[in-house]
Amino acid sequence: MDWEQRFRDDTTPWERKGLHPAFVDWREAGAFADLTTVIVPGCGRSAELKGFAALGKSAIGADLSATALAWQKAQLDKDGLSAELIEADILLWRPDAPLDAVYEQTFLCAIPPRLRAEYEEAVHAWLKPGGKLFALFMQKDEPGGPPYGCSIPAMRELFPAARWAWPDSEPAAYPHPSLSGKPELAMILTRR
Ligand SMILES: C[S@@+](CC[C@H](N)C(=O)[O-])C[C@H]1O[C@@H](n2cnc3c(N)ncnc32)[C@H](O)[C@@H]1O
Repeated sequence: MDWEQRFRDDTTPWERKGLHPAFVDWREAGAFADLTTVIVPGCGRSAELKGFAALGKSAIGADLSATALAWQKAQLDKDGLSAELIEADILLWRPDAPLDAVYEQTFLCAIPPRLRAEYEEAVHAWLKPGGKLFALFMQKDEPGGPPYGCSIPAMRELFPAARWAWPDSEPAAYPHPSLSGKPELAMILTRR
């Protein structure tokens, strides 16, 4: 997938055009209250990076696409907000100090499944013990992608209980408005 070209062509069916309802629900429930540092890997042109900046968080947005990051900067500047913007293959990046949270939205389902173990390693390395992974796991039965399906059994294998505490509650489902209504399951995993 040539992500940069997709942004230049404005062919971005994964975008929600506004804050994800799960972000809003988590924010209203106070789930972000204790966070200071948060990264949005593969942030693209999603609104949540600015959403975290608006909450006063030290937010990092990372993407391969210069066009997407320029869009993020323009959105932040418009409201006098700031965030760190990193143009890089984020799977290879590591922070100077561990972070409080990762906000995962249509990034894991976008990368080739062969990179998933690398992603889990990276997220584990980014977070401090007790850090949170706010995950929106894309549900899709058909083979292929992107988006590649992130079934809960596959996610439990990828994020094993020895390294991640899973919530006891059933996940809330948020149908995607443009990806044929595919549900994203919202879950907060805690890094051990
Ligand atoms: C499906 S889009 C999702 C964008 C955004 N999270 C959203 O919800 O609109 C996937 C994003 O991941 C970025 N991406 C893909 N592989 C990446 C990598 N290895 N490092 C950083 N960004 C990557 C793409 O450029 C793209 O912006």
